[in-house]
Amino acid sequence: EQKQRSFTIGFSQCVESDDWRKTMLQEMNRELAFHPNIQFLYRQADGNSQKQVVQANELLQSAIDLFIISPNEGEPLTPVVEQAFKKGIPVIVVDRKVATPHYTAFIGSDNFAIGKMAGQYAVHLLHGTGKIIEITGLPKSSPAMERHNGFADAIKNYPQLQVVQQVNGEWLPDTAKNELLKIAARYRDVNLVFAQNDMMAQAAYEVFKNKVGIKPAIIGVDGLPSTGLQFVSNKTITATMLNPTGGEEIIRTAVKILNKENVPKENLIQTTVIDSTNVRIMQLQVAKAASQQTQIERQKTMLKEQTRIYNNQRSFVYILISS
Ligand code: FRU
Repeated sequence: EQKQRSFTIGFSQCVESDDWRKTMLQEMNRELAFHPNIQFLYRQADGNSQKQVVQANELLQSAIDLFIISPNEGEPLTPVVEQAFKKGIPVIVVDRKVATPHYTAFIGSDNFAIGKMAGQYAVHLLHGTGKIIEITGLPKSSPAMERHNGFADAIKNYPQLQVVQQVNGEWLPDTAKNELLKIAARYRDVNLVFAQNDMMAQAAYEVFKNKVGIKPAIIGVDGLPSTGLQFVSNKTITATMLNPTGGEEIIRTAVKILNKENVPKENLIQTTVIDSTNVRIMQLQVAKAASQQTQIERQKTMLKEQTRIYNNQRSFVYILISS
């Protein structure tokens, strides 16, 4: 039997409190289960860039063979990525970007495309005329900038379509809610809210419904079953732009790199619009995938049991032969 080489992967995650990050980690662990030779060191930084710098440095001190990072903000986390890369440790940057080309692979959505799709959806929904509020994520994280730019690009030829107010929700529903509460009463005539994630979109729905008494169209981003798909299907938000977490993809890429295979540097995950016309089919597909996953888990358990029985019988036969 050939003994597989063992590896250590360090993963520095910016935050883990939301479903999107939890889903990413679950998907990563699911894929890691196929690689018992990989040790996985995980740190999350509670959305604090300074804390993440400290944690990332600690991981780099731990003799890791590969470094995965989803930076809270690009600039502060750039030096640590460069250090890792200079030391010869392969680096996979996930979801949010850093301000250096010195990494091995990037895996994440095309956030400009996501913003642009959202903008096109808004143009279509409002027939090119109306007032929009944009709720952004952390202004210094790349998806916030790219989603904003994509959205602006899509509406630029429609002068009657105006972003009348920008709110910094920092990717967090509570921040979005508090910031919106300060200004919402001034915008009784707003037609649409573009929130850069579904949690902030749902917060906008609540503020406008409960505090202002209006129901503007609302576009979110992420499209997780537990949040975005649910909100679209409950009609609290109008649409969501799918932003898969890429968890399995990240580990598969890591394994390839560890095995010295070549991988593309830029890996963009596909996206699509989900609204009331296709949310049901999305939910059914998610349910189907979940039930297949349960099947796989059952098969794994059975296989383990079979192996145990086989090994028992083998030692039994051995005892018979040798006695
Ligand atoms: C989760 C999240 C997602 C968003 C992504 C952007 O932490 O805020 O909702 O799409 O990060 O980096």
